[in-house]
Amino acid sequence: MGYEFIQTEKKDAVGIITLNRPKALNALCAGLIEELGRALDDMEADDAIGAVVLTGSEKAFAAGADIKEMSEKSFMDVYLQDFITDGWERITTCRKPIIAAVAGYALGGGCEVAMMCDFIIAAENAKFGQPEITIGTIPGSGGTQRLTRFVGKSKAMEMCLTGRLMDAAEAERAGLVSRIVPNDELMSDALKTAAQIAGLSRPIVMMAKESVNRAYETTLAEGVRFERRLFHSTFATEDQKEGMAAFAEKRTPKWQNR
Ligand code: CAA
Repeated sequence: MGYEFIQTEKKDAVGIITLNRPKALNALCAGLIEELGRALDDMEADDAIGAVVLTGSEKAFAAGADIKEMSEKSFMDVYLQDFITDGWERITTCRKPIIAAVAGYALGGGCEVAMMCDFIIAAENAKFGQPEITIGTIPGSGGTQRLTRFVGKSKAMEMCLTGRLMDAAEAERAGLVSRIVPNDELMSDALKTAAQIAGLSRPIVMMAKESVNRAYETTLAEGVRFERRLFHSTFATEDQKEGMAAFAEKRTPKWQNR
């Protein structure tokens, strides 16, 4: 089935998902979120794909949940539907790495979706924020939690209480984004990075992702123990043997993804 609000492409081992609702600055309506979940299911199931890039347009990664779509919903509507849960959280259950390539606005749910990805590469014109407070609500898809973990309480609290936006330079200083690149190099850079990851051993990449994510879910001691056990597990793989043998023999490893 085709897509109305997104575009997808597969370039060698990299899957590209582009949010494509330009008239609404990629506002995350129910249809878009459903399509995004479906596209991620497809990328996850495709053995040829090793990493995914999620991006928007030059003007907006996504300007948030669709305000017009949700403005008339009642408490019972949103509570009974568990609004902003189904589909939205699909990004966080994806086992393959997802890079958010963000240009322009990443606001509200847009910022939250970017933060659900594994890391964010920002164009110079990127702007991040949780402006929900200015429309009479609060972040609903992890903004108060993930932003606080990324940038600390003081900045997160100020942004959530005032709706102030953060530019790319501040976002990089604060640790929200991994790198800033010139606007016209955003996609080439994100694709190069994704291809690099996709060219490594799939199971080992998955273990690294799982281990870093564990840092957000547990204590330091438990996290280190989890990491140590996964590290031990890598020694049960053919790729660990191949990677270390290739290093000693000064050649490029041939990953079996086993
Ligand atoms: N929902 C629905 N439509 C949106 C939208 C949104 N979040 N953001 C932008 N649009 C629409 C506008 O209504 C406008 O449509 P029309 O042409 O039909 O009027 C179109 O996109 C272009 O937007 P603007 O004319 O406003 O563009 P601008 O360049 O002047 O301003 C902006 C850009 C500062 C991003 C501004 O659009 C804006 O403030 N958007 C809303 C940001 C926001 O509050 N996001 C949080 C949403 S709530 C949420 O996300 C909850 C959650 O945690 C999940």
